[in-house]
Amino acid sequence: MSIPLKANHILPKIELLSEIKRLKKQKNAIILAHYYQDPEIQDLADFVGDSLDLSRKAAATEADVIVFCGVRFMAEVAKILSPEKTVILPDMDAGCSLEDSCPPEEFAKFREKYPEHLCLTYINCSAAVKALSDIIVTSSNAEHILNQLPKDQKIIMAPDRHLGAYLAKKTGRDMIFWPGSCIVHERFSEKELIKLKAEHPTAPVTAHPECPDHILRHADHVGSTSSILKFVLENPSEKFLVATEPGIMHQMQKSAPHKIFIGAPGADGRCNCNQCPYMALNTLEKLYNCLDRLSPEIEVDEITRIKALAPLNKMLEMSPTMASNRPPKSGRSF
Ligand code: 13P
Ligand code: SF4
Repeated sequence: MSIPLKANHILPKIELLSEIKRLKKQKNAIILAHYYQDPEIQDLADFVGDSLDLSRKAAATEADVIVFCGVRFMAEVAKILSPEKTVILPDMDAGCSLEDSCPPEEFAKFREKYPEHLCLTYINCSAAVKALSDIIVTSSNAEHILNQLPKDQKIIMAPDRHLGAYLAKKTGRDMIFWPGSCIVHERFSEKELIKLKAEHPTAPVTAHPECPDHILRHADHVGSTSSILKFVLENPSEKFLVATEPGIMHQMQKSAPHKIFIGAPGADGRCNCNQCPYMALNTLEKLYNCLDRLSPEIEVDEITRIKALAPLNKMLEMSPTMASNRPPKSGRSF
C-alpha cells in the first residue's frame, strides 16, 4: 500500500525512487521533465526536453497518465493535446512569470487594437491566452515559423518582449510586443558577464532568447534549452559560459563530463539567483504524492481547450523536424 507523504515525512531516497517507479508502472504513467528540473527528477524521467520536445511527447504518448515535471503552462499544453489522458503536476503553484504578466482579459483588449496583426504567442502563457492566439511558438521554432509567413505580415508577439525583440532584430520583421518578461533570465548582469568573459576569453557564451538584449549581444549562440545543449555538445570548445537556468547544466555535465560549464552571473557576481523558483517547487516527494493520488490534476475547460488546440496544432505543423532540434546525446528517452 502507498504511503502519502507529508512535507515533513522523509522516506529514504532509495525507497522513494523505487516507489515512484512502482507507481509509474502500476498506473501506466510517463514522467516528462523539463531541463530546468532538479537533477534527481531529470534522472528519473522517461523523457527530458525543451517546451517543443515535451509538447510533441505529450501528444504522442500511449501512457494513461502524464506526470509533468515542469511548470503549469507546460502541463496544460499536454492536457490540450491529449485530453483523454490524466495530466498531473507535482505542485500546482509551479507557474511562470511570463504567464502571470499576460492576463487573458487584458490580452483580449490588446489584440482588438490590432485587427490586422497575426498573433504569435510564446508557449509560456495560459490556455486562455493561447485560445486568443493565431500560432503558438517556442524558443526553438519561433524563427522557423516566422520565416514561413509573408514578409509584410504585421505581427503581435506576446508575452515575452525579450524573445520578441530578439526575433525582430534577427528577421527584420515589423512586430508589436506585449511587455512581459522572465524574472529568471532578466537577473543576469551584463557587467558581471563582461568580467567573466575577460576571465575566460576562449569560452563561447550561449544564452536563452528570454535574456534581455544587453546579455544576448555578448552571446556566440542563442537558442532554446535543447539548442543550447546541442551547441555545447557539438562545439569543440572545452569551456562555456551559460546564460540560462542552471538546471540545464545537469544534462551538459552528464553528456560531456570532460567539458567545463560556468553559469552566467547575476548582479552579485554569482549565478544561484537564476534558479527558476517555479520549477524548483517540484520535488521527489511531491512527485511521489501526485502519482499516488493522481492529483493535483490539470483541467482545461473544453471550450478553451478547443480554441487553444488550433494555434498549438498550427505550431506543430509549422515546426522543424524533431531530429533537427534535439541534442545528439542527452537525457533519457522512452
Ligand atoms: P525552452 O522551450 O527553451 O525549454 O524554454 C522554456 C522556458 O520556460 C525557458 O525559461
Ligand atoms: Fe517561466 Fe522564466 Fe521559469 Fe521559464 S525560467 S518557467 S520563463 S519563470
